[in-house]
Amino acid sequence: MSFRFLKKRKPPFYDAGRIPVHIGVIMDGNGRWARKRGLPRSAGHKAGAEKLRNVTEWCGNLGIKYLTVYAFSTENWSRPSEEVSGLMSLLIEFLEKYEPEMAIQGVRLRVLGDMDSLPDNIRRALDNAVQRSVNRQKMQLIIAFNYGGRREIAHAARKISEMITQGTITPADVSEDLISDNLYLPDIPDPDMIIRPSGELRLSNFLLWESAYSELWFSDVLWPDFSEEHLRKALEDYIHRDRRYGGVKS
Ligand code: IPE
Ligand code: IPE
Ligand code: MG
Repeated sequence: MSFRFLKKRKPPFYDAGRIPVHIGVIMDGNGRWARKRGLPRSAGHKAGAEKLRNVTEWCGNLGIKYLTVYAFSTENWSRPSEEVSGLMSLLIEFLEKYEPEMAIQGVRLRVLGDMDSLPDNIRRALDNAVQRSVNRQKMQLIIAFNYGGRREIAHAARKISEMITQGTITPADVSEDLISDNLYLPDIPDPDMIIRPSGELRLSNFLLWESAYSELWFSDVLWPDFSEEHLRKALEDYIHRDRRYGGVKS
């Protein structure tokens, strides 16, 4: 096999040292996608869930280790109740339907969010799916559900306050690392890149603490239309970004 051939098959963004370890995705635009087709919003959410299945596989093949997807925010409770219950049912359906292929693909599932205020059946379904997948090694799919960045920071603050009250630490021990260690999933590294389709240029309360130095990538594409080409373009852009973290270029 010639070097030239190898190079053609493996463009630079496949280089394991350069691709992001962790990508966050704000899966937005399902409603507009459905409206454009004269379909109910629920059809957009269904198409969005199918897209998540594809994107998980593409990320796994590209060697991305962590994929965090924003599926339901703490603010999404303000939607009409039929839409909210449709999103809850869709989550359960997704967890059941894709369990066999996530098992084959080595996808470990995690959940990120306020589990305590979810209905019992949703929490149980999530717990089961997480437990079943605990030994899978290829990648982690982190579903942000009933997630809000501010609620997560408040949760960390509460845990830290309890430690102070119990006398295990003093206020002087409160550091950036201690806050990171008390977020919902402290073992997951901060996202290298956050992708938001649908044309909105905001984070909508997604990973507020963790995104301090994430590269942001926006596109007008609606989530159900997001393609492997969009993902590759995002990765290609990412590897050309200069991540200085406040320093100067060496
Ligand atoms: C994202 O799509 C899915 C959730 C927020 C659950 P939207 O439902 O927000 O779609 P648009 O933004 O209305 O198009
Ligand atoms: C963000 O999308 C939440 C999810 C994708 C789950 P929204 O559609 O809820 O956000 P806004 O209202 O445009 O900020
Ligand atoms: Mg939206």
